[in-house]
Amino acid sequence: MTWRATVLTLFPEMFPGPLGVSLAGKALASGIWELEARDIRASATDKHRSVDDTPAGGGPGMVLRADILAAAIDATNAPASLPRLLMSPRGRPLTQSRVRELATGPGALMICGRFEGVDQRVIEARRLEEVSIGDYVLSGGEIAAMALIDACVRLLPGVMGRPESGTEESFSEALLEYPQYTRPQTFEGRPIPEILTSGDHARVTAWRRAEAEALTRDRRPDLWAVRQKPPKNTTEG
Ligand code: ADE
Repeated sequence: MTWRATVLTLFPEMFPGPLGVSLAGKALASGIWELEARDIRASATDKHRSVDDTPAGGGPGMVLRADILAAAIDATNAPASLPRLLMSPRGRPLTQSRVRELATGPGALMICGRFEGVDQRVIEARRLEEVSIGDYVLSGGEIAAMALIDACVRLLPGVMGRPESGTEESFSEALLEYPQYTRPQTFEGRPIPEILTSGDHARVTAWRRAEAEALTRDRRPDLWAVRQKPPKNTTEG
């Protein structure tokens, strides 16, 4: 079945953007997934087509109106079972396991916020799941939605050449990727680590595991701390 991404945005012309090229673009052209970018402004009701207003209680910026966004969501006719994601820096951080769940399902409805935020009542009334792609603030949810879609699409059957390359990499085991090398044999005086050209597959596997663990411990102590699976080929402790 075709995986379906529906995006509600004030800037539908931003799509497909980067999702139209490379792996995701080829999969889009071949019908593995579908994309619909819908303009929230099409649900505006007044003659100025306004979608936002000043925050109740005062403060800077503008807030996306609950009634307009609710109408835009309802107009998609998305089934209640479809995940409804509101891209927002205050959302739950996106993880590879959530990406895997979303990629396994029928698709997602993604709502891209702009301005200072979205009226809280539509978040509750339409049961929106707030999702963040990291602890930094983008100028809108569109690039976050693209990141989420890209992460899902590459996991869809038929998108990646070797399916195992989707599971063996960073985060599936809560380990960062080991370093990779290819030709030339020597680059600016730096040779490829000798083990990798030794032909000894067991030593290569052990070396990669050790490198991945050292990187994870150094760069991502948070990942290292919650790592679930013990190494397969060695005894831990
Ligand atoms: N919109 C603005 N910043 C964002 C972020 N970090 N994640 C998701 N959506 C956003």
